[in-house]
Amino acid sequence: MFPLAKYYITTAIDYVNGNPHLGHAYEKIGADVIARFKRLAGYDAFFLTGTDEHSLNVARQAEAEGLSTQEFCDIMSGRFRNAWDKLNISYDRFIRTTDQDHVATVQDIVRRANERGYIYRGTYSGYYCVSCERFIEKGDLIDGKCPFHPSREPEWVEETNYFFALSEFQEPLLRHIQEHPDFILPAARRNEVVNRIKEGLQDVSVSRSTLTWGVPFPEEIDDSQVVYVWFDALINYLTGAGYTPGTDEFGKWWPADLHYIGKDITWFHCVIWPATLMAAGVPLPETIFGHGFVTFKGAKMSKSEGIVVDPLKVVDSLGADPLRYYLMKVVPHGQDGDFSFEGLAEAYNADLANDLGNLVNRTTAMIKKYFKGQVPSPTGVYGPLDEELKAVEESVAQRAHEMMEELDPTSALSEIWRLITAANKYIEDSAPWVLAREGKRERLATVMLNLVEAIAKGTIMLSPFIPYSSQRIWDILGLQGKPEDIRWDGNLEISSLLPGICVTQTGPLFPRLDMESSDFTKGEFHLAELAKEKKKEGKPGQAGLSAKSPQDSGKGDKKVADLISIDDFAKLDLRVAEVITAERVEGTDKLVRLEIDLGCEKRQIVAGIAQFYKPEELVGKHIVVVANLEPARIRGVESKGMLLAGSTEDRSELAIITVDRPLPKGAKVR
Ligand code: MSP
Repeated sequence: MFPLAKYYITTAIDYVNGNPHLGHAYEKIGADVIARFKRLAGYDAFFLTGTDEHSLNVARQAEAEGLSTQEFCDIMSGRFRNAWDKLNISYDRFIRTTDQDHVATVQDIVRRANERGYIYRGTYSGYYCVSCERFIEKGDLIDGKCPFHPSREPEWVEETNYFFALSEFQEPLLRHIQEHPDFILPAARRNEVVNRIKEGLQDVSVSRSTLTWGVPFPEEIDDSQVVYVWFDALINYLTGAGYTPGTDEFGKWWPADLHYIGKDITWFHCVIWPATLMAAGVPLPETIFGHGFVTFKGAKMSKSEGIVVDPLKVVDSLGADPLRYYLMKVVPHGQDGDFSFEGLAEAYNADLANDLGNLVNRTTAMIKKYFKGQVPSPTGVYGPLDEELKAVEESVAQRAHEMMEELDPTSALSEIWRLITAANKYIEDSAPWVLAREGKRERLATVMLNLVEAIAKGTIMLSPFIPYSSQRIWDILGLQGKPEDIRWDGNLEISSLLPGICVTQTGPLFPRLDMESSDFTKGEFHLAELAKEKKKEGKPGQAGLSAKSPQDSGKGDKKVADLISIDDFAKLDLRVAEVITAERVEGTDKLVRLEIDLGCEKRQIVAGIAQFYKPEELVGKHIVVVANLEPARIRGVESKGMLLAGSTEDRSELAIITVDRPLPKGAKVR
């Protein structure tokens, strides 16, 4: 066996002075789709994301909330991580710039650049935009304001600190960019960056003497200063790769294959970051991709400008997959795209409920009706319609793969939809109901088998985009394991898996939204939130912590229960179990019936979590259950065990306990 090629992908790390918004979510989803695709394509992929915590904004926000900066960061960073978990972002490490290994890496990189003579002491005076955390040259101010944050006065800063000799890297950077056409993508971003570099590079200040919140400069240089937040933040990519300070061991994953970041921060990533690496004698990353923005009614989503859509509200209303799907569809490769609630609802109904959901439903219903639910074996009765469908399958698998390799999920998605559309057309053209009526069993068998194959292939290719739903379709088809277990390297071969599998039928995969009456499609209720956010702009408590968010309530205001002995604890048989199926208990608002796999046995439990999780979100989760609880009947349904979940005092927020890396089913929790 050849070792798998590695693929190291990173996103920008988000500032924690406000809650995660749809713009942040778009980036994490885009990177997740690429990471999942790479795994599917056979790479050993490592996906890094996290939070950027040493900003001045964050320190000020914490003070306004009456919390220590670290406490504030812990809460806010947790919110980002929770949001990415809810969106099913498959990160391998969630890094925080306050992590100890990161602090050591930052100091070491500063040390390396200093030893090579690129750090010197000087005096800085100029304007600083706290929202961007960047110094702004006078010529770049518009009406005296930062071009990105016109509602906020830039601050005048004058201090003695340490500079990085960026100006020495003008020629090496231009040469590197020219010799590596994929270093900055898309090409339009590369041209912008090249033109700016050609205007000349100024040395930049990389420490702050007036702040205390940050990574201290190395002791041997001057630990009375802290490292400038951007210099600190960029180095997270090396920490995440597994860099060992004091050595030339850059880590298993370095160099990064892809830094996936927003177009507003290309300067830092395409100029400051590679120059820093050159100064420190570290190899450069392969590609920096500057994606576009999600706009809302044409305006950039931005917490400092008060324009935010809360992705979790969308997930609570519709689930993660529809949002993932829609954002990948409407924000094209490297460009901006506009989000609207109406657009999301339309895409949900037309693409997911109609095209995909109905295709699966109709197919499984026909297999149930005509073949007692069992997918028939090939009969050799082929015709031109079959050839046509096969040709679409092959070309879609090939082309969608190429588009993903070109980091263009939007085009890949529309290619995959060509297959979904072709499969729906194949049903109409082959008219299985006529074949059944006329007793053409062999031809009918071919049609059913071909449909299952088209759906299964579509499902594999869709799994990076809509992972929950893909797994669900996979299970409905009766296929073993996960769609991601199949290798998609341009070809997609699964025909041997299909004959004899038994399909099941459940309710609709994507229940249709009633555009007239659904709260969600009215959408404007989110606008009210937006207006509220706007009002709060600049005021203390912007992060909503002083208003005691339900997420944080209960913190510190309840004493823990009385002590128990270790023997008492040992009476509990806590086990890891995988959720196989999940469905709402009819006639109840809160109850979900779960079929779980404990390794040695499968059993049913009932949990009161329906308000917090859609059943499909639960499938595949590795949860923790009390396995030796006496069976009970809840609303007439038998429950053999209980899952563990954490919740706030008032039970307005709840999260299931899962394991954060794979463990065999049935593993004991102790
Ligand atoms: N902390 C820095 C990044 C440091 S990376 C070493 C930062 N943080 S941020 O919270 O302001 O932005 C994080 C990411 O979200 C950036 O890549 C930014 O471009 C992206 N987005 C913020 N708003 C966005 C949209 N409206 N649309 C798409 N992405 C946008 O910058």
